[in-house]
Amino acid sequence: MLTYSGEGRDISTKVGVKTLVQNAELSMRAKRIEGKLTMRWVKVILLSMTTVMAAHGAVTKAVFGTTPDGKTVDIYTLKSDLVEARIMTYGARIVSIKTADRNGKIADVVLGYSALDGYLADSSTYFGAVVGRYGNRIANGSFKIDGHEYHVPINNNGQSLHGGLLGFDKLVWQAHEVAGGVEMTLVSPDGDQGYPGKLTAHVRYSLLHGALRIDYSVSTDKTTVVNLTNHTYFNLAGDGAGTILGEELTLPADHYTPVTPVLIPTGELPSVEGTPFDFRKSTVIGARIHDSNEQLKIAGGYDHNWVLRGNNGEPKTAARVYDPQSGRVLTVTTTEPGVQFYSGNFLDGTKFGKAGESHVKNSGLCLETQHFPDSPNHPSFPTTLLKPGETRHSTTTFTFSTHAK
Ligand code: BGC
Repeated sequence: MLTYSGEGRDISTKVGVKTLVQNAELSMRAKRIEGKLTMRWVKVILLSMTTVMAAHGAVTKAVFGTTPDGKTVDIYTLKSDLVEARIMTYGARIVSIKTADRNGKIADVVLGYSALDGYLADSSTYFGAVVGRYGNRIANGSFKIDGHEYHVPINNNGQSLHGGLLGFDKLVWQAHEVAGGVEMTLVSPDGDQGYPGKLTAHVRYSLLHGALRIDYSVSTDKTTVVNLTNHTYFNLAGDGAGTILGEELTLPADHYTPVTPVLIPTGELPSVEGTPFDFRKSTVIGARIHDSNEQLKIAGGYDHNWVLRGNNGEPKTAARVYDPQSGRVLTVTTTEPGVQFYSGNFLDGTKFGKAGESHVKNSGLCLETQHFPDSPNHPSFPTTLLKPGETRHSTTTFTFSTHAK
């Protein structure tokens, strides 16, 4: 800090009045200069702070609530020049993402609740959550590792969905602030929900301008399977602003994984060519969702995994969503090999959102970057096996921008 050394000097009582007046004038002038200098420094400091904040996002922390078993749930607010994102420690969930439309009007573009109670009472939507240990389904809740059969909870139509009854979405994560973000950590003990190995998961959210980046890293002390993803529901027109059926989607993927009637991949990887699953060119989501197509009927809309171009582990575009109404654009990039495009088919309007609005069918869409569903039972899919001594990293980024009319 700037300090001024002239102040507080002794003035001898022996000095004359003139000297006293001169001294007083000098001291006032000095104070004015000091004031100017101090203001200049304050401005410089503020400007550099704003620049740093705008680039890396400022982070603040508050208490969001308490779980029934007495655990405090914190919420972190990440702010950049373009986006404000709130993330809580219950389920490492994205609670809100606020960003401007093409006219500068801010809206919250993710579905959720205004208070923790809403999340605690909802065991089926996974709003904003990190899901694990295994995002999406494992057939009949069983798989084999090295000839040993493991059983995990069956919680969805005879299958295991999103890690079981008490998955990572329903646990309170440990958190600490990092540059421009927050890192959440969860240690899942050996045998948790039937999965082998003590698994340590770190999920780091960081914000840079319009990009909210998620870095996952997982390690284990016994061979296990793992597939973490984020289950945020986006509606680029804003939470509560109708359905996503008018939004336009691009998925740069030539193949997808069709499913059986219980939403387990058949194992085939057919081409999207000539099907309602072809989103290689930007297409309105609602344009074909009601087509008479067996796969759409099974899922009640889109709820499938697309096979992304490029290699597993390399960054690539997973999806782009454009809302012609607001001009908001969401671009998703990932190092994962697949993306589950889920058009919110099971939202049934019974759950009420942040402003009391009901979350009707198709009121939000998920783009869950992931390894393919049921990979442990499909040796031809990219492996989800994780061995002791390995650390698996993956990164997904949600970037927000706007597009003129
Ligand atoms: C699944 C859906 C499921 C939903 C639960 C999605 O990831 O693919 O089938 O209903 O999560 O909210």
